[in-house]
Amino acid sequence: MTKNYLKQPFELGHITLPSNIFCAPLAGCSDLPFRKMTTGFKPGLVYCEMVKMDALVRYDAHTFRLLDYEAGMHPIGAQLCGSKPQMAGKCAKIIESLGFDVIDLNCGCPVDKVTKDGSGSGLLKNPKIIGDILSEMVAAVKIPVTVKVRAGWDHNSINAYEITKIAESAGAKAICIHGRTRSQGYTGPANWDYIKECKAHAKTIKIIANGDIFDAASALKIFSHTDCDAILIARGAFGQPWIIEDIYNTLSGKPLKERGGLDYRDSLLEHLAEVILYQTERKALLDMRRIGCWYLKNIHGAKKLREMLNRSKSILEVRDLIVNYPWHEVSISAAPPLEEACTACDSI
Ligand SMILES: Cc1cc2nc3c(=O)[nH]c(=O)nc-3n(C[C@H](O)[C@H](O)[C@H](O)COP(=O)(O)O)c2cc1C
Repeated sequence: MTKNYLKQPFELGHITLPSNIFCAPLAGCSDLPFRKMTTGFKPGLVYCEMVKMDALVRYDAHTFRLLDYEAGMHPIGAQLCGSKPQMAGKCAKIIESLGFDVIDLNCGCPVDKVTKDGSGSGLLKNPKIIGDILSEMVAAVKIPVTVKVRAGWDHNSINAYEITKIAESAGAKAICIHGRTRSQGYTGPANWDYIKECKAHAKTIKIIANGDIFDAASALKIFSHTDCDAILIARGAFGQPWIIEDIYNTLSGKPLKERGGLDYRDSLLEHLAEVILYQTERKALLDMRRIGCWYLKNIHGAKKLREMLNRSKSILEVRDLIVNYPWHEVSISAAPPLEEACTACDSI
């Protein structure tokens, strides 16, 4: 008999989440429209993209906009990026006052601009500071504190196990391990053995597994490989927000829903409507190039539509192109994941 990995509900510290299937922070991607799409499928928790501690304490308007959410998006988490323990408590308090349910510390961002002051995955080089920052956050707020790390800086310095113990001692309620190193960036497969090892080192802290969950089958595999407590879906939600429902169905032994061209069309149009509501027309046009690519990556012969979306001059034109495409004729295949790098971190 297969183990029941799906936990509905799932306890995180003193709060109860609807499940142990979470949606990742994705800078430049997990904005309000994206999160509206995923929360429609009722994940256990959804994280906003990371925000810089320095910008938060300056009450920078752009930073606060990254934290926009609507009432229906609970439970929702925010993620801090920074390396100064003395700033962490104040930032955590701001996040709590905004009504967030969970607060996370980013120890994974690989971008030079972020790591150069020791933030993001730069923290992996100094695990003691991770403990100091987490302790400050835990002392400052009542909401559960979590931390998200990579396996290590590079293959010669894997230290996610050590950080698991440090985070546990500091009072963090969960640690999410992305099974890649900083030097890997987003390329090559995630090594789930590192996550399994962290689970073996954990006493009370919950282990959230992350990396290469692109469909329901890989979700089941990462649970059985690592024995993790929860999973975090990242690029797997690009252009298929229903991955959450697929994972629920597979983990509870139900058949997968078949998704045809019209499902892709409807979801893309819904996403477009959310983008129009939230962004200026110029930004919406730019966003729809990226979002269009996500939804079309699995559709055979959609190259021309992709190119036309990229050249569109108005949002009405984008809408017409999508509406008039022969979706009922298309065939769909599981495409390899987009090698989408986190370029947004440069502008945060
Ligand atoms: C475009 C992009 C933006 C990301 N932004 C963040 C972020 O703000 N915070 C964070 O902790 N991780 C961020 N990540 C990392 C993801 O949350 C996740 O750990 C990583 O993509 C591995 O999971 P996957 O292989 O399933 O995509 C980002 C990844 C991508 C591709």
